[in-house]
Amino acid sequence: METAPQNPPRDGIVATALTKTYQRGGQSVHALDGVHLHVPKGAQVAVMGPSGSGKTTLLHCLSGILTPTSGSVTVDGKPLTGLSDAATSRMRLESFGFVFQDGQLLPELPAEENVTLPLMLLGTPRAKALEVARQLLARLGLSGLGPHRPGQLSGGQAQRVAIARALVTNPSVVFADEPTGALDQTTGGEVMDVLTQACAATGASLVLVTHDANVASRLAHTIHVRDGRILQVTRSAR
Ligand SMILES: Nc1ncnc2c1ncn2[C@@H]1O[C@H](COP(=O)(O)OP(=O)(O)OP(=O)(O)O)[C@@H](O)[C@H]1O
Ligand SMILES: [Mg+2]
Repeated sequence: METAPQNPPRDGIVATALTKTYQRGGQSVHALDGVHLHVPKGAQVAVMGPSGSGKTTLLHCLSGILTPTSGSVTVDGKPLTGLSDAATSRMRLESFGFVFQDGQLLPELPAEENVTLPLMLLGTPRAKALEVARQLLARLGLSGLGPHRPGQLSGGQAQRVAIARALVTNPSVVFADEPTGALDQTTGGEVMDVLTQACAATGASLVLVTHDANVASRLAHTIHVRDGRILQVTRSAR
């Protein structure tokens, strides 16, 4: 983990001099203020910091959901910033998985079809996508639950379905924003186990925003964000 400028880019995620300024009510909000960061391939890092410090903005800029105001992001040496919208979307779909606080599953679709969605968008035939989704759900301890809709699952089960959806394309990075924020301590711990073990098994990097020090301590490193800057990076005692 490094937070100094780097040249040339390397594998994993490299962010250089990242800034993001929002305009709100005629005022500029400097949500990111010169972030340098290298998340090596396969690393698992937590992002912590007070509300409003820029965690979600950082996650969204690293993952191409938001375009930074200035600075650059590369993933495995490939530029993410400066691409057309279509190319950014393609890279998001092929290389990244996303897990959000409330799962954001489509309520009217069975769990297994939610998991197939990224594959279908990439052109995988439906039967093949369903086969892959069912295998993955079984690996995450959800065999048999595939035909059920998200509303018929527990919060922890639904979040594991969201993890399956994030991993189904075999992404190089999984981004998670408070994935256990809506769960109790025990269920959150189980979801974290599934998420960290699945990322480790596939070699995906994990960048996870959390307010919970217990959650952060399960990941090797924690990036501490304050006022749009990286204050320090700490290593978890494990
Ligand atoms: N779309 C937006 N327009 C204007 N300002 C924004 C926008 N989104 C976020 N901000 C501001 O940018 C700053 C960083 O917001 P961000 O959502 O990244 O914080 P956060 O660390 O994720 O906070 P939380 O822990 O509450 O989720 C805050 O001051 C916020 O008010
Ligand atoms: Mg946030």
